[in-house]
Amino acid sequence: MSKIAVIGSNMVDLITYIDRMPLQGETLEAPGFAMGCGGKGANQAVAAAKLGAEVLMVSKVGDDVFADNTLANFQLFGIDTQHVTRVPGVSSGVAPIFVQSDSHNSILIIKGANAHLKPADIDAASAALRDCVLMVVQLEIELETVYHAIEFGKLHGIPVLLNPAPALAGLSRTHLAKLDFLIPNENELALISGQPVTSPESALSAARLLVADGIRHVIVTLGEKGALYVGEEGEFRVNGQVVAALDTTGAGDAFIGCFAHHWTQTRDIKHAMTLAVAYSACSVTGRGTQTSYPDTLRFAEFVQSHVSERQA
Ligand code: RIB
Repeated sequence: MSKIAVIGSNMVDLITYIDRMPLQGETLEAPGFAMGCGGKGANQAVAAAKLGAEVLMVSKVGDDVFADNTLANFQLFGIDTQHVTRVPGVSSGVAPIFVQSDSHNSILIIKGANAHLKPADIDAASAALRDCVLMVVQLEIELETVYHAIEFGKLHGIPVLLNPAPALAGLSRTHLAKLDFLIPNENELALISGQPVTSPESALSAARLLVADGIRHVIVTLGEKGALYVGEEGEFRVNGQVVAALDTTGAGDAFIGCFAHHWTQTRDIKHAMTLAVAYSACSVTGRGTQTSYPDTLRFAEFVQSHVSERQA
């Protein structure tokens, strides 16, 4: 048994490719547009499923045409949707995304139905969750639900992984201390720890603070510089790969989905981190969020050409 539960958001990504952001009052032509399935929770679930994981999704969709598309997308990847439910009279989550020609992005999120995922929905999914070996959570749902997921995992002995994205100030360090895995990027780590994080060295000292609080494993994603581990297994760094980036949207989610899959398969954190860094790098070479996530075959080719045997 190695099923992964993702408790989190789904969004409809409205992606505009731009040369630059328009100024106030200016109308500007943009070179391209695409609509896709996104949302941090859904992206992480799809990344894991594309790699072969069995995934249970606990999420909310709205009362609109987007909902059917989102459900069909989950089902296309074999994701268990018995606990993805509709909220009457509410829109689905939507994310207008602007991708610049240098591959970087700006994202707005309208939570819509995602704001209606409540602690009671976790309790309603209790039987299915207790069949899972890892619960993955992010911050595009209400905080009370995130904290309840952490408590639920603790009560039932299911490891909980929190990806604290998007960055949010004022998280309860008492709740976070109960986590098995916290996987922030540098900005998120700075907000949670209250320490400036501007380099791998400052990331290391901020991560040590959180481990001292009680979190078992803190993994800091460092973009093209790889990722850093601090926790029960010591301290180490995994290097990134140099790639020609087209679109970085959803790269963090690619990391989480791949890490979750490989950790549940092997319980080897360093190995799972190495593959997650590579999966994330591979994802930025394609456009879109879920559309840029490689399947097992394409990822194996990427690993062969970009990751040394010693690393893998
Ligand atoms: O992490 C990328 C995701 O953030 C996008 O898919 C968008 O929906 C927002 O949730």
